[in-house]
Amino acid sequence: MSKTAKINFEKIDLPQSDTVVLFATKSAKLSALAKELDDKNNKFITNAIKIAGFKGNKSSILEILSPADQKFDRLIIVGTGDTKQLTTPDWRHIGGNLSAHLTKSKIETATLICDEILGDDDDGEITANLAHGLVLRQYRFKKYQTKSNKEDEPTTLNPKKITIQSENHTTVKKLYTSQIVPLQHGVFAARDLVNEPSNILGPNEYAKRIKDLKSLGLEIEILTDKELKANNMNALLGVGEGSRQGSYLAIMKWNGAPAKSKEKPLAIVGKGVTFDTGGISIKGSAGMEDMKGDMGGSATVVGLMQTLALRKAKVDVVGVVGLVENMPDGQATRPGDILTSMSGQTIEVINTDAEGRLVLADALWYTQEKFNPKFMINLATLTGAIMVALGKEYAGLFSNSDELSEMLDASGKNTGEGVWRMPLGEPGSAYDKLINSTFADMKNTGGRWGGAITAAQFLQRYVNKTPWAHLDVAGVAMASNKSPINQSWGSGYGVDLLNNWIAENFE
Ligand code: BES
Ligand code: MN
Ligand code: ZN
Repeated sequence: MSKTAKINFEKIDLPQSDTVVLFATKSAKLSALAKELDDKNNKFITNAIKIAGFKGNKSSILEILSPADQKFDRLIIVGTGDTKQLTTPDWRHIGGNLSAHLTKSKIETATLICDEILGDDDDGEITANLAHGLVLRQYRFKKYQTKSNKEDEPTTLNPKKITIQSENHTTVKKLYTSQIVPLQHGVFAARDLVNEPSNILGPNEYAKRIKDLKSLGLEIEILTDKELKANNMNALLGVGEGSRQGSYLAIMKWNGAPAKSKEKPLAIVGKGVTFDTGGISIKGSAGMEDMKGDMGGSATVVGLMQTLALRKAKVDVVGVVGLVENMPDGQATRPGDILTSMSGQTIEVINTDAEGRLVLADALWYTQEKFNPKFMINLATLTGAIMVALGKEYAGLFSNSDELSEMLDASGKNTGEGVWRMPLGEPGSAYDKLINSTFADMKNTGGRWGGAITAAQFLQRYVNKTPWAHLDVAGVAMASNKSPINQSWGSGYGVDLLNNWIAENFE
């Protein structure tokens, strides 16, 4: 796990050392405390604001070194713009950008004064999310770098200690430790898994790491090749046929609902292809190293389950991940082979590189049969085509339920982990027909056009009446865009989104 700053919470009391951070809103409006400091010291803040042309715009920063007559080293003023306009993701970004500034200035200890200027923060949400953004920004995956290398942000993580002062510091601390810290843990766990190389994190090691999550109070069951065979999960098994390692279905249960609750569980399913060579339909070598991240969907599920356990969510959730390695080999599945899935439906494998849907076909069917979930959501780095459609900002959302789609859209807006709904045809529709096969019930590719859609149509054939959503996270889970709160290749996308979806709708 990445080493990030220790966060302390205390009441407002202008410190006499190190770095002090104050906030200013639109038109560089200052808090009462900042104004008093300014007035008592010949308007040094007002002067600096004027000289620097500081307007208090969102995430703008003004640094004043050795402020006149003050014992502290520096005063940093962070702009927020109009606080009435700011959403939770905005506050996190302000925290993230401040973190980057502190790191660049090699500041190890800072005190943030979160006073009335930030707006009404009775519930502590604003302050806790500022801190969250600060910490998310600091994540690094440095496990395999034995020498520090010179990046624009140094490897030694500054700052080491952040003190957050506010009037309601006990409320903020409670919110931060009970909700935000578990969320950070889940996001960082997901990032770690995605960043890990495939020679370390193959299916065997991955299954072992999941088994160890028992210690968090999760109930874990791992199905091995033999048990998968007994369940007729030949679509999933077909993908792992070329690998020297085993294939697995890992089931993580969090039973947090009150004992008398009769609610059906929620189910989250993930694609865990620990490396995707394409198999016999082998990929080109350019960029193939990125395919270590083809377990990104499963990493989100594993991270989310940890968050739920750590914050003791009052809900029953099952996480299911299919763990396989897609390799070419004398034993590997060939194009033209026909696999019989657990559902009994047969699949003609046209392209062994369309393997994610084979894994999910059995994982979704198993989850639905075994747990009869209230809602089922799967995440998968399923297609390159989703990036052609949406780029790398949104996950593609495909769903048979408007209700579920609307809930996920709202959580996307709450968290900044956006989803964009894509078309999904009914069974028998024009889109659906594209995957009919001459030799089997269906084929695993749908031709040149609408590749993300035909992949979703394939998955839909393994979902009955369960309200279900498929998130194609190929563009957002790995090789992700850097942002004020994420500098990591593996983003941990979806942990926050689904944690929010659960907290907002089911607890
Ligand atoms: N894992 C890939 C999709 C992918 C591509 C994820 C790039 C992240 C970045 C998936 O298994 C795959 O190979 N999909 C093929 C499907 C095709 C053969 C129908 C694709 O998208 O090209
Ligand atoms: Mn593939
Ligand atoms: Zn893949």
